[in-house]
Amino acid sequence: MQAEIGLIGLGTMGSNLALNIAENGHDIAVFNRTTAKTGTFFEAAGELRSKIIPCSSIEEFVRAIRPPRPIIMMILAGEPVDEQIDVLRPLLAKGDIMIDAGNANFRDTLRRTRTLEGTGFHYLGVGVSGGEVGARHGPSIMVGGAQASYARVEPVLLDISAKYEGQPCCAWLGEDGAGHLVKTIHNGIEYADMQMIAEIYGIMRDGLGMTPKDMAPVFSRWNEGRLNSYLIEITAAVLETDDAETGKPIVDIILDRAGQKGTGRWSAIEAQQLGVAATGIEAAVAARSLSALKTEREAAAKVYHSFNEPLQRDAALLQDLELALLAGKIAAYAQGFAVMSGASRDYRWDLPLPEIARIWRAGCIIRSQFLSEIATAFEGTEGQTNLLMMPAFVQMMSEAQGGLRRVVARAATAGLPVPALASALSYFDMYRQARGTANLIQGQRDYFGAHSFERIDKPGAHHGPWGIDVM
Ligand code: 6PG
Repeated sequence: MQAEIGLIGLGTMGSNLALNIAENGHDIAVFNRTTAKTGTFFEAAGELRSKIIPCSSIEEFVRAIRPPRPIIMMILAGEPVDEQIDVLRPLLAKGDIMIDAGNANFRDTLRRTRTLEGTGFHYLGVGVSGGEVGARHGPSIMVGGAQASYARVEPVLLDISAKYEGQPCCAWLGEDGAGHLVKTIHNGIEYADMQMIAEIYGIMRDGLGMTPKDMAPVFSRWNEGRLNSYLIEITAAVLETDDAETGKPIVDIILDRAGQKGTGRWSAIEAQQLGVAATGIEAAVAARSLSALKTEREAAAKVYHSFNEPLQRDAALLQDLELALLAGKIAAYAQGFAVMSGASRDYRWDLPLPEIARIWRAGCIIRSQFLSEIATAFEGTEGQTNLLMMPAFVQMMSEAQGGLRRVVARAATAGLPVPALASALSYFDMYRQARGTANLIQGQRDYFGAHSFERIDKPGAHHGPWGIDVM
């Protein structure tokens, strides 16, 4: 038999995706650079083995797929992808499609698509979200590249994707790098969501003296309400899990130093490049960098410990924490969608924002009911309106902003860091400020650099009567 599709890279994501494809009835050829892994994978595949062709060389792998061949690469982002393309090219025939399903930087996807343009080979940049379980049982799939190439793999991708109320969480989003940009922003929002949850956890732990076991039911309860989401659900699960070795809550044993592979940072960089404010994502990325300075933080804690004050509490504080998370989340999503809207304009993708919100409702890490409301809000708009101005969100933000304000104020006084929540509040306050303070910035710029400014009372570029003589 010849397989319908091929997959290179049998790491956690690749092997689970391959099993998912096989389980959905599609014959698949698989290859891994370390061939021993291919054997182990095949042995463990059980009854799905009849749908899998394990290959021990790349030549055998290419021969095992029916032309025109769709080949998924689930390998480390960056140079390994370029190397893999170089290895594949001489072996492939015109019409074959290379599909990068890793967390690629969309700029690499743009470059690779351009390089392959006119060669007869096709390229898709596909964002896949959902971690190990998602890959195995249904991820959210964000496709970028030529629509005709997508059409050829669409049946497989629709079959393996997560379903939300029966609707596949998979869509073609635009040309070349569109899918990978959207996946990157998904991860940026994921960073902001996770950081804000961690800040609330910090207030509970250091301000309210709650134990993980006290906190878990609070997050579980929130998961029944407006904050209902996968990340809130797993937060409760993490908090109530004990370490097998010590019997202590596992979260108390885990070192407070978070890793990052790059997508959060790329989101923040892209937002800056586009000139779109994404303060929640930026704060979350910066917080991970600060978390890495464990030794420095320990030394600074000794020097500055006296600036902590007891947290001002009242009966409504827990409710405020919930509202603060909701308001922060609205601001972070408003920013993430604004970045996608900016990218859509600059890269001419015409990104379908409601569709993006819809395919994030199941399978991916930021899945939540909240995304249905975002999808509805963006329906019929050209994506040019900030989420904060959509009627449903105006109401939600109006109800939640007081909680965010009180939480940020109390955390600041108590000396508890809430960078993402505070950035969300400042973003909101700046966004709704009709007369801001950039008039002074313009005055300063003109004073030291003759950059000119606009006036409120007449058009044109003007200079101030600064009385500076450079001669
Ligand atoms: C997903 C995840 C996935 C991965 C991130 C984590 O959508 O399935 O986001 O892509 O877990 O790469 O990123 P960091 O390692 O940077 O936290």
